Amino acid sequence: MSMGNSRSVLSNQTGIHESLSDLVDKYLLTKSMKPIQSHTQQAFDAALAWLNNWQGALIFDSCCGVGLSTSKLAERFPDARIIGIDKSEQRVGKHSHHAIDSTATVSNYLIVRADVIDFWRLAVTHGLTLTAHYLLYPNPYPKKHQVQKRWHGSPAFLDIMRLGGTLQIRSNWLLYLEECAFVLNKLGKQSSLMPVNDDQPLTLFEKKYQASGQVCYQLISPDEPLLELPNSTIA
Ligand SMILES: C[S@@+](CC[C@H](N)C(=O)[O-])C[C@H]1O[C@@H](n2cnc3c(N)ncnc32)[C@H](O)[C@@H]1O
Repeated sequence: MSMGNSRSVLSNQTGIHESLSDLVDKYLLTKSMKPIQSHTQQAFDAALAWLNNWQGALIFDSCCGVGLSTSKLAERFPDARIIGIDKSEQRVGKHSHHAIDSTATVSNYLIVRADVIDFWRLAVTHGLTLTAHYLLYPNPYPKKHQVQKRWHGSPAFLDIMRLGGTLQIRSNWLLYLEECAFVLNKLGKQSSLMPVNDDQPLTLFEKKYQASGQVCYQLISPDEPLLELPNSTIA
C-alpha cells in the first residue's frame, strides 16, 4: 500500500443523509432471511471452537483488513480474546506479514475470512456478547445514493447493537461518524467523537491517511444498556 498520497473523501453529501432516520425505522421492523454463506458459517464454527466456551472478555475487530489492529489489540488486552474478521481472502492471507509477533505460537487472537454481515448475525443468534467492538476505517461509500452501503445505513448495524460492547469506529470522513452518532442517538446510545490521538497508527489505513496529512477521527460509544428495541426486531 503506498503511503502519503491518499486523497480526502469527496462526497456530494453535506449533512446527515435525510433518509437515514426512516431507513433505521424500516430496519427495526424487518428481519433478515438471507441465507448464511457457507464460508462464513465455517469461519464462525472455527471461531467458536477456538473460543472453547470462553467466558471472559471478547472483542471483535470487524473489517480488520490485514489484521494489524487485531494483533495490536491482542497485545493491548492480553486477558481478552480478539477475533479479527475480513471478507478479503487476500488481505487475511497477508496477516503474517503484519502481525506484531509473527513467531508467537500461542496467542489470544484469531483472524478469520468471513462476511461480517453473516458473522455478526451468527454471533447474535449464538448469544455472544462483546466487551468491545472495533470497526476501523470501514469503506465510506461517500456518494449520497450509497447511504445504505454504510454500516450505520444498513440493517446489519442493529446486529452490532445487539452484540453490545464499547463500540469504536474510526474514519477519515467526519460525516460518516456524525451519521453513526445520529443513528446511535436514535437508538438510545450516547457517543463521543474526537480526533484519533494514538502514538502509533492502529491500522494500515490509518497510517496511510496520517502520512497524507489527513485527520482521522474516532467515535466511541460506551457499553450502556440499549433502550428497548421493538419485539419485532428480535432475530
Ligand atoms: C478500508 S479497509 C480497512 C481495513 C482495516 N480496518 C484498516 O483500517 O487497515 C475496509 C475493509 O473492510 C472489509 N470489508 C468490507 N465489507 C466487508 C464485509 N461485508 N465483511 C467483511 N469484511 C468487509 C474489506 O475487505 C476491507 O479490508
